Amino acid sequence: MTTQPEITIFPDKEQLITGAAEFMAARAVEAIAARGRWSVALAGGGTPKPIYARLAEADHARRIDWTRVDCFFGDERCVHPDDARSNYRMAREALLDFVPLPAENVHRIRGEEDPALAALAYELEIQRLFRRAAPPAFDLICLGLGDNGHTASLFPGTASLREQARWVVPQYVEVMQSWRVTMTAPLINAARHVAFFVEGAGKAEMLRRVLHGPYEPDVLPAQLIQPAGGQLHWLVDAAAGGGQ
Ligand code: 6PG
Repeated sequence: MTTQPEITIFPDKEQLITGAAEFMAARAVEAIAARGRWSVALAGGGTPKPIYARLAEADHARRIDWTRVDCFFGDERCVHPDDARSNYRMAREALLDFVPLPAENVHRIRGEEDPALAALAYELEIQRLFRRAAPPAFDLICLGLGDNGHTASLFPGTASLREQARWVVPQYVEVMQSWRVTMTAPLINAARHVAFFVEGAGKAEMLRRVLHGPYEPDVLPAQLIQPAGGQLHWLVDAAAGGGQ
């Protein structure tokens, strides 16, 4: 039975950044206190970068025992890790280079390799870390909302939307003319917390459709995200969510 999404609307972008960083830090402290570790999957794109940078600042970073953190990625563009389009590079430059997170605790998707092999390797890495066969419960999976309703690299009309068995798949994205590797809805929906960070007037109509429009996940993949036993959070600024 899915829980009601928790929607938090911040007055402006700056307060969304502060609030979202606080949210992530609180989830980390909570998970480490409860289970001794925090497993988080980061979102890509532009919206989360200043949030990660705020999380790296002392007031948040020193509250977290980074040796007990496992950092994953919800999806990746199939490029070299030094490429400007790399989600790993974005997270490294905003957060990972500034906190004492052991290198072996950073689990990046190898975007520079064959997409099918990279997806399989990532699935095996998740299995290895969680020592589980069933989809593991990440403590927090962060997501963004694309202008066309995609999230992670789950794009409208693509085969990855119908995936029920795999946790991570390769996906050729016609509109991007490029390959991506992405976590699937079954894995994302097994998480304890899933948080969308959405910012700007340009996302307002899409957010309204995803939250209040008819259920059409093949057109609006973000609607697929309904954590089975976990909590769904929407952290948005007033420009994106004020009209909700
Ligand atoms: C990616 C992301 C993608 C992103 C949305 C929103 O690799 O691009 O995982 O799903 O979250 O496209 O991107 P913005 O935050 O840049 O609007």
